[in-house]
Amino acid sequence: MEIRPVSHADEHAGDHGATRRDFLYYATAGAGTVAAGAAAWTLVNQMNPSADVQALASIQVDVSGVETGTQLTVKWLGKPVFIRRRTAKEIEEARAVELSQLIDQNAENANKPGEPALDQNRAMDEAGEWLVMIGVCTHLGCVPIGDGAGDFDGWFCPCHGSHYDSAGRIRKGPAPQNLHIPVAEFVNETTIKLG
Ligand code: FES
Repeated sequence: MEIRPVSHADEHAGDHGATRRDFLYYATAGAGTVAAGAAAWTLVNQMNPSADVQALASIQVDVSGVETGTQLTVKWLGKPVFIRRRTAKEIEEARAVELSQLIDQNAENANKPGEPALDQNRAMDEAGEWLVMIGVCTHLGCVPIGDGAGDFDGWFCPCHGSHYDSAGRIRKGPAPQNLHIPVAEFVNETTIKLG
């Protein structure tokens, strides 16, 4: 009988071969899920933390340095959140749009559930200067490009060509919904609380 040194890997394969194969299988399946995008989104939704954990996960963002016409992106609950200080032109363009022109007529605003997608129901403040949105394309989850991108002076998702307007509402392309607005409020003049 041939005797050869047994490496750690051999031992592992001998004792736990099935386990390793299972692990490889799940790891592969996991990678496939992430690539699929939509499936990954479903998975993430199922794994959402309970309400009490979410409450702890609220953050405060100092927006005092955000100039008009610029955007701050912060990461919150693992997702990018766009905080944009809109120009007068962006506000005017967003407010000139009729509800009937919109693909998704729901404001998709967690602070105003079920309200129509008028710009007034999407902006944080009455003047419409501040817009806070989850920076995740509602098609398959890419992060759209901002700063007046796309055909509607807002955001553009290059993955499959979704155009969002200056209020973050879907106007053209495959995305089915407006960019979502998270629970958010001003706690003082220069601080926005998310969650
Ligand atoms: Fe497909 Fe944005 S992920 S258009």
